[in-house]
Amino acid sequence: MKNITIRDKEFTPFISYDEIEIRIRELARRVNEDYADREPLFLAILNGSFMFAADLFKYLDISCAISFVKLASYKGTTSTGTVVSLIGLDESLKNRDVIVLEDIVDTGKTLSNLLPSIEEHSPASLRVMTLLNKPDARTHQVQVDYVGFDIPNKFIVGYGLDYDGLARNLRDIYQLVE
Ligand code: IMP
Ligand code: MG
Repeated sequence: MKNITIRDKEFTPFISYDEIEIRIRELARRVNEDYADREPLFLAILNGSFMFAADLFKYLDISCAISFVKLASYKGTTSTGTVVSLIGLDESLKNRDVIVLEDIVDTGKTLSNLLPSIEEHSPASLRVMTLLNKPDARTHQVQVDYVGFDIPNKFIVGYGLDYDGLARNLRDIYQLVE
């Protein structure tokens, strides 16, 4: 595989689609086991997680549901700071086994703002799955239950992840050349 250029930046091949697919099958196997007698509701966070969600779903053989949601963040009027709300949530989370699907957890800020607002809907359980995780970038502690790949703190694109809105369509994941 060759290096690619997106806008002004150069990227080098990092994780191939073959490796991604193998790992996603393993994640699906674990969910199939952990939720065998349940009926989880996945909340896939747009835009980045669309490809991951689609591939994961092909390997789930339990009864399950999915809702694609967007995050809107705004400054709260209280001292709690940023409040994150879900746009596009058309199902009740009450007493559901919710699994949040993320493309990548970087600083952890997004999830640390989002998870409390999901808890307010009184789900039966709440877990987080992310395809990619950058442990070294963490500034906000956050619980992540299923991780595809732990990766170094470098910017990546492809497989749903973008740079300036581009490169989501790449089937492999590429890393920024610095
Ligand atoms: P966090 O709030 O810092 O954990 O960041 C979460 C969001 O930032 C992710 O859902 C991505 O949309 C974006 N992001 C973080 N790291 C990268 C990256 O390396 N490439 C593309 N998007 C990223
Ligand atoms: Mg995202």
